[in-house]
Order: sequence, then structure tokens, then C-alpha cells
Amino acid sequence: MTDAPTPTLPSVGREWRLLSRPVGWPEPENFELAEAEVRQPGPGQVLVRNEYLSVDPYMRGRMSAAKSYIAPFELGKAMQGGAVGEVIASAAEGIAVGDRVLHFGGWREYATFDAKQAVKVDPEAAPLSTYLGVLGMTGLTAYAGLLRTASFKEGDAVFVSGAAGAVGSQVGQIAKLKGASRVIGSAGSDEKVKILVEEYGFDAAFNYKNGPVSEQLREAAPDGIDVYFDNVGGDHLEAALGSLNQGGRIAVCGMISVYNSTEPVPGPKNLARLIATRGRIEGLVVSDHYDLQPEFVQEVGPLVASGALKYRETVVEGIENNLEAFLGVLRGENTGKMIVKL
Ligand SMILES: NC(=O)c1ccc[n+]([C@@H]2O[C@H](COP(=O)([O-])OP(=O)(O)OC[C@H]3O[C@@H](n4cnc5c(N)ncnc54)[C@H](OP(=O)(O)O)[C@@H]3O)[C@@H](O)[C@H]2O)c1
Repeated sequence: MTDAPTPTLPSVGREWRLLSRPVGWPEPENFELAEAEVRQPGPGQVLVRNEYLSVDPYMRGRMSAAKSYIAPFELGKAMQGGAVGEVIASAAEGIAVGDRVLHFGGWREYATFDAKQAVKVDPEAAPLSTYLGVLGMTGLTAYAGLLRTASFKEGDAVFVSGAAGAVGSQVGQIAKLKGASRVIGSAGSDEKVKILVEEYGFDAAFNYKNGPVSEQLREAAPDGIDVYFDNVGGDHLEAALGSLNQGGRIAVCGMISVYNSTEPVPGPKNLARLIATRGRIEGLVVSDHYDLQPEFVQEVGPLVASGALKYRETVVEGIENNLEAFLGVLRGENTGKMIVKL
């Protein structure tokens, strides 16, 4: 359906731009919140008023110029990220004004783009913000990383770091629901540890700030672990290698402990444990697993709807707080998915 732009459409919106590449922790002066003209949609395009924006640890990688699986943000231009919003003008077949879409034009109030880059979402089926988290990118990362990369099987003992975050909380719960013998999580506060055990049903959890990870893991998993889902890297990875059982598998999803490092970070000292354990370590990038999306939604959607799989969101309001929300994720201020609500 094609809708002609109406005079009530906004002409100016705000967007976050990267001005310079951070070295170490990102600083406010690396960014600017600027006003930009709102483009009316050309043929095949839509104009969306964003309602929810995603901020994710991987965005720190895009702020650097280093070559990776996704291109760096361009200096002086609006950054990108997952977003959900309402179509307010459409010149595209199949997308009407009022539709809600998931797309990649985040870090801004209004986005104009090819409709091919949008996925329609149903606000009646689930809260809109969940398409960025538990039913979205972070949820699929947990599902694919655990089931495919780590080849999880019933009876496995699973350790996940960053366990109170968006990906980690889902990894632990899916493992539990699929018959893990034991699920252990680590997180950065006693409050988060409590949530892991009391709300998400983890068998054990510890605060990695309370003592050496290796010692706390050995105590929490006296019979070792079969799967480690790594969100953190560093001493967590070394501890997991130390507790790995025969045939153990390590899925490397993220290494947030090194994202702001200014020096090359040494690898684990005990990598040779992979020999004796016949262990396997494998990285994952969620976009390689989009083929699992339908299966993921079919299986996890009802679990979320019934409350069998629980989730939390930390919601920060206002485009002006988009950057602080992102920095908050790096600082551990979120429990569950960090969302910016406009
Ligand atoms: N490979 C992929 O395709 C893919 C896709 C999505 C996400 N990821 C990765 O998965 C991980 C989790 O992502 P997410 O979106 O779910 O984020 P998240 O876990 O919701 O948020 C990040 C969490 O990391 C923890 N953290 C920060 N610094 C840390 C440190 N030095 N040591 C230990 N923990 C630290 C903080 O929690 P605490 O309070 O517990 O410290 C923070 O809440 C990240 O590493 C991310 O890069 C990878």
C-alpha cells in the first residue's frame, strides 16, 4: 500500500553520531546528538518513528576502525543499531502507515530506509521491546550459541558468564528447560546473583567480583562443566577451561571484559586443557544463524508468553540518554536487555 506523505510529518529529528574513535572507555566527546533533516520516503521506502532502540556491547567494536565481522561506524554519521518503530509514511508495497517494524536504523528518532530492510512485527503478539531482546537478536544468539555452537545436550552441566544480561539469562534458562544437569551463572553483583537463582532457576551462581573466578566456579560446579557459554573472556575463560569435562564445548559469544582494553590481551594460560579433555572452542556470530529464526520464535515465543522463560529489561527513556544507556551496558548497569524508550 502506498501512502502519500502528509503535512504533519516531522522535518527534523535527532540522531547520535560518532565524532571520533574512542581509545579505551568511550567518552561523551567522542559523540554528538545532532539534528538532521527527516527524509521523506522514496519509491520502495518507509519513514519510521522509532519507539524502542537497542544498545548492545558489540557496538563498542564498531566504534573502532579495526576490521571485524561488521563494518566500523563512519565518523560524522549517525550510528546504527536495532530499533522498533511505527511506520509514519510509506511508499512501499506491503507496509502501511501504522505498521510496526523491526529494522537497523537505531540511535535516531526517525529513520527512512528501503522497506526490504524492515521486518513487520506484531504489537499484539508480544510487547514491542521484546523484538529487540528475548524474542530478537539477543534471544537468537542465546538459542543458536547454546544449541548449535555449543552442541548442548540433555544432562550437560552448563556455565554461562554475563548471566544476568540479555543473552546470558536466556542461555541459562534454555539449558535448564532442555534438561541440563546443572546450570551455573556468574554476574557482577550480589543482587544479580540472587535473581539468577531465585527468579531464573539457576542451580548456582556467583559474583565474579567477590573472589577468583576459578575458585568460585570449582565450588559451584564440583563435577566440572560440559558447556561454557562465554560472554566475558579473560579470567572467566581460563576458569572454564580449568573446570572443563571430557568432550567439553566452549561457545565464544563475547568477550566484554576486553572491549575497552588499550593493549593486546593475553590468552588463557591453560589452553592446553583442550588436549586432555578433547575439548572444542568455537566462536559464533548471530547473523550466521538466521536460518534458526523461525524455529527459535516457534519454540521460545510460547515459553515467554507462558512465563516459563522469564526476562527482564532495563529501560532508559529519551534519545538524549541513548549514549548513557550504551555506556551503562559496558558498566553492568543493566539486568536483562538494555532498551531505550523514545
Ligand atoms: N557473537 C554474537 O553474535 C553476539 C550477539 C549478541 C551479543 N554478543 C555478546 O554477548 C555478550 C552479552 O551481550 P548482551 O547483549 O547480552 O549484553 P548484556 O549481558 O545484557 O550486558 C553486558 C553485561 O556484561 C557485563 N560486564 C561488563 N563488563 C564486564 C567485565 N569486565 N567482566 C564481566 N562482565 C562484564 C555486565 O554485567 P555484570 O554486572 O554481570 O558485570 C553487563 O550488564 C557480550 O559480550 C556481547 O558482545 C555476541
